Amino acid sequence: MERTLGEIECSFTQQLHQWTEQFRPYSAQGKCAAYIPALAEANPEHLGVCIAHPNGQVMKAGEWDIPFTMQSISKVIGFMAACSVCGMEEVLNRVDVEPTGDAFNSIIRLEAHKPGKPFNPMINAGAITVSSLLPGKEPADKLEPILSLLEKILGKRPLVNENVFKSEWETAYLNRSLAYYLKQNGFLAAGVEEALEVYSRQCSIQVTAEDLAKISLVIADDGFDPFQGKQMIPRRITKVTKALMLTCGMYNASGKLAAFVGVPAKSGVSGGIMAAIPPRGRRGAPFQEGGGIGIYGPAIDQVGNSVSGLMVLKDMAEHWDLNIF
Ligand code: DON
Repeated sequence: MERTLGEIECSFTQQLHQWTEQFRPYSAQGKCAAYIPALAEANPEHLGVCIAHPNGQVMKAGEWDIPFTMQSISKVIGFMAACSVCGMEEVLNRVDVEPTGDAFNSIIRLEAHKPGKPFNPMINAGAITVSSLLPGKEPADKLEPILSLLEKILGKRPLVNENVFKSEWETAYLNRSLAYYLKQNGFLAAGVEEALEVYSRQCSIQVTAEDLAKISLVIADDGFDPFQGKQMIPRRITKVTKALMLTCGMYNASGKLAAFVGVPAKSGVSGGIMAAIPPRGRRGAPFQEGGGIGIYGPAIDQVGNSVSGLMVLKDMAEHWDLNIF
């Protein structure tokens, strides 16, 4: 007998619940980020998972509604916003699209490779450069295209968590060094403090796993939002964004993501993971028309990726054959 849509969705949700319970204990293998003191206050045992289907359903399990800051996931939004308002060529004049295999805040390549162009927008040097390029003089003006892109997709204006922003701002010694280095080499399009404020504020934008699932659904569907029936981001920009997520999205674990998960994804040190499942032709597999995944698990590994979150993503990709290769 054919199963109804409701029954199918119910079985997906049950599966999500099973994963959250199965992988939650593994969060003990990681720790909440402490280099930004406000992030250390998260509950390391939290694990929330959402998957958005193009038919309008969002399936949810665990602590899917806990707000957390985007951190590095905001680099994806910053890149798409900058490409939309400044043009992709202008952005790529200042930042490359090459993976590094280095830590997200590494400075090494800025000096080792002349003329010091940041390797990609998913590492700190590249993201600070992208933030500097956004139009306007004041940090609030530059932040606007990022907030309004999120508002368009989510139907609500996200908040900047001032406590997390302050905590990051006061401890951003390494990011400040990166910004000075970029300024010296002519890649920063604004002052060091302005660029850094935009970057730190975008990292402090608050979302839930459900929000991430909705955003990644739009990225998966080449910028089209199936919920609202509208093109939100130019197609060409989302194609490059997905390639960057796949090759650079999980920092120095990006190669492993491509090899063993095969889904474009971006992580942040607050424990979020946003993964975009592009439409695939797979006989019998679910989510053939694509989907968006949002995960929150604040205990992270040494690289900066959520321990339990990554386990869920890996199992999910295997179980539902989400791998793009
Ligand atoms: O630049 C920083 O330190 C953070 N605000 C963002 C870093 C981040 O999320 C890297 N993640 N794995």
